[in-house]
Amino acid sequence: MTQPESDILRAAQDNLWLHFTRHSAYQQNEIPTIVRGEGSYIYDIHGKRYLDGLAGLFVVQAGHGRSELAEAAAKQAQELAFFPLWSYAHPKAIELAARLAEHAPGELNRVFFTTGGGEAVETAWKLAKQYYKLVGKPLKHKVISRQIAYHGTPQGALSITGIPAFKQMFEPLVPGSIRVPNTNYYRAEEISGVAGMTAEEYGRWAADRVAQAIEMEGPDTVAAVFAEPVQNAGGCFPPPPGYFQRLREICDEYDVLLVSDEVICAFGRLGTMFGGQKFDYVPDIITCAKGMTSGYSPIGAMIAHERLFEPFKSGDTMFAHGYTFGGHPVSAAVALANLDIFEREDLLGHVTRNEPVFRGRLESLKDLPIVGDVRGAGYFWGIELVKDKDTKETFDAAESERLIRGYLSHALYDAGLYCRADDRGDPVIQLAPPLIAGEKEFDEIESILRSVLTEAWKRL
Ligand SMILES: Cc1ncc(COP(=O)(O)O)c(C=O)c1O
Repeated sequence: MTQPESDILRAAQDNLWLHFTRHSAYQQNEIPTIVRGEGSYIYDIHGKRYLDGLAGLFVVQAGHGRSELAEAAAKQAQELAFFPLWSYAHPKAIELAARLAEHAPGELNRVFFTTGGGEAVETAWKLAKQYYKLVGKPLKHKVISRQIAYHGTPQGALSITGIPAFKQMFEPLVPGSIRVPNTNYYRAEEISGVAGMTAEEYGRWAADRVAQAIEMEGPDTVAAVFAEPVQNAGGCFPPPPGYFQRLREICDEYDVLLVSDEVICAFGRLGTMFGGQKFDYVPDIITCAKGMTSGYSPIGAMIAHERLFEPFKSGDTMFAHGYTFGGHPVSAAVALANLDIFEREDLLGHVTRNEPVFRGRLESLKDLPIVGDVRGAGYFWGIELVKDKDTKETFDAAESERLIRGYLSHALYDAGLYCRADDRGDPVIQLAPPLIAGEKEFDEIESILRSVLTEAWKRL
């Protein structure tokens, strides 16, 4: 017999520890509990339907309720439920590595599996450190990343993360991580102190800050730069034209690895298999996870340029790093089935064709006084909320608290839209629906946002 709803909700209060959540918010209210998904929609424990405007957490690319993916998992669990990649291999991890290498740009042929994104980031930093020791540049160990960027919670990945509030409680973290400005063109003047730059000029300026940081730290000590194709935290900052091309030049000039953290941006989120492909750059390492299985089973990966593997090919050299569940057979089998869906249903083409439509719907909200900026790419968009559109004045901490936590998060959800209202940078709403979504879902997103944001403005 299944447990009654009230028991489940009680146990959620009593036993579950939610991630990145203020539990105090649920002292009086029940914890929203999702029981089922179908396509672009999810259903809560009371049977109410919501549009999944965040694909779970930038994960459910192929949509909910795909029996084909569940069957791939069941079949693999029966055949070989588990075997590690520690000195042994299994066919699904081999096949998946080959398939990822085929999709990855340039000579990014070497796939190291993890169970998620933070582990992939952690792995990339450790590889960068060891690689430079092996090639005779042992001082190179530091990493550069961008302000407000989120790169995960393990202590190395958290050190790379640029959100001070998420780090303070866990300091001291891994030393040797340096911040540079991000690509928030909407706030270009505030960030750079220079008025009137074009997007290209700002991109050049922001990329050059990386060169400056390398010079200041000492090029002999810097191992890698971590950057997302479109930065998530802060609200979807796309790269200005030329940004990544300049970053590539800088990394080559100083012999620093360019790590493209594509935990969100890979697997079609931007309409390309890997995020860097959208902006025509080839990194040295890609970190990815989330959408690889559309969330039907967890997996992550670090995909490295073949030359980074070269020093590990001979003698007694080993990358002393691994995860019991990295490249789990069930997850690998699901990832392969997920990639089959991508090909069969042309999900990349679907996103690319629909990007202008989605963008248009969201940009139509710019007539609202609270909507300052709409930015993003593919099926990954942020809407920045402001107090004054002309001056771009943002909300102070108390106002943001009232707006985001006190009103918007609940109101959007109550109106049937699951998405993210976030104030890790300036207040934003983020949208990243499953990649199967189309005009009907965009219309629904626009209409809910319009009514909730109109009401939010009245309450200010
Ligand atoms: C860019 C980026 N890197 C790393 C991570 C961490 O991934 P995970 O939560 O799978 O450890 C995330 C998670 O959202 C992310 O967006």
